[in-house]
Amino acid sequence: MNMKVKIAGVELNNPVMTASGTFGSGQEYGEFVDLNQLGAVVTKGVANIPWAGNPTPRIAETKSGMLNAIGLQNPGIDVFVERDIPYLQQYDSKIMVNVCGKTIEDYCEVVERLADQPVDLLEINISCPNVKEGGIAFGQDAKFVEKITYELKKRAKQPVIMKLSPNVTDITVMAKAAEAGGADGLSMINTLTGMKIDIHKRAFALANKTGGLSGPAIKPVAVRMVYQAANAVKIPIIGMGGISNYEDAIEFMMAGATAISVGTANFNNPYATVEIVDGIKKFMKDNNIDDINNIIGCVK
Ligand SMILES: Cc1cc2nc3c(=O)[nH]c(=O)nc-3n(C[C@H](O)[C@H](O)[C@H](O)COP(=O)(O)O)c2cc1C
Repeated sequence: MNMKVKIAGVELNNPVMTASGTFGSGQEYGEFVDLNQLGAVVTKGVANIPWAGNPTPRIAETKSGMLNAIGLQNPGIDVFVERDIPYLQQYDSKIMVNVCGKTIEDYCEVVERLADQPVDLLEINISCPNVKEGGIAFGQDAKFVEKITYELKKRAKQPVIMKLSPNVTDITVMAKAAEAGGADGLSMINTLTGMKIDIHKRAFALANKTGGLSGPAIKPVAVRMVYQAANAVKIPIIGMGGISNYEDAIEFMMAGATAISVGTANFNNPYATVEIVDGIKKFMKDNNIDDINNIIGCVK
């Protein structure tokens, strides 16, 4: 039975990854999860310099999901390279580093700094707000998506996976723009912009007013977008958004994802990722599937 999948030439032992920002760089989960069992660990976003993140409260629970406005708090690339990469290197799982920035130059600096590091894949988060270019989120402007992808591809030593924002009218336009810029793959989806009001305090639940909605509530949107993008581009897709069990993972793969990431589910159940690996294995056995690649995009 084959569970191996390939993303941009990088072979993963199985298609299950951790979604950026929900698994640290693995240390926090090390006592629950044997990281050797995961296809890849995707790190939290890292920028060229340390970011403090947004003021609190920056997390709110919602029905079937959560809102977060962490603001990409991170220690910066220097600390990350010294502290997190050596930890992750001890394991069999591949390492995908999530990169964030406020300008193209910021992203380029991080990607250049990672060039000589033992990192397998780069995931570029282009859903950061408050950027120089017109103050609109990078991921909502197709020309910009193509341009930043092109600039990063010129500098990157590892395959470049562009992480798309779902906060757009037509996801296929963004998927095609990333492909035109030379992206080796797509990660999708990031969180959907949402808001919650505490009616007793007559106040916003988050200091930032709005936050990113994740968890089971967004799964149908994510499956739809993965399906649409998979039919619009040739590059592989890493699907995510509300995956909490193996059935969800299989659904994303049947919609066209080559691999999947598990995010918010880790907070409710720290064993979610390894349970999903075992569940996929059992599903394959029960349904006589010898190669996981045979189900990718099987629903047209
Ligand atoms: C607390 C939290 C922090 C996140 N931080 C990042 C991040 O640093 N970079 C990024 O690209 N996505 C980040 N995300 C988005 C997730 O990686 C994922 O795309 C999204 O949550 C949808 O998947 P899920 O519903 O399984 O959580 C974050 C999500 C949450 C809930």
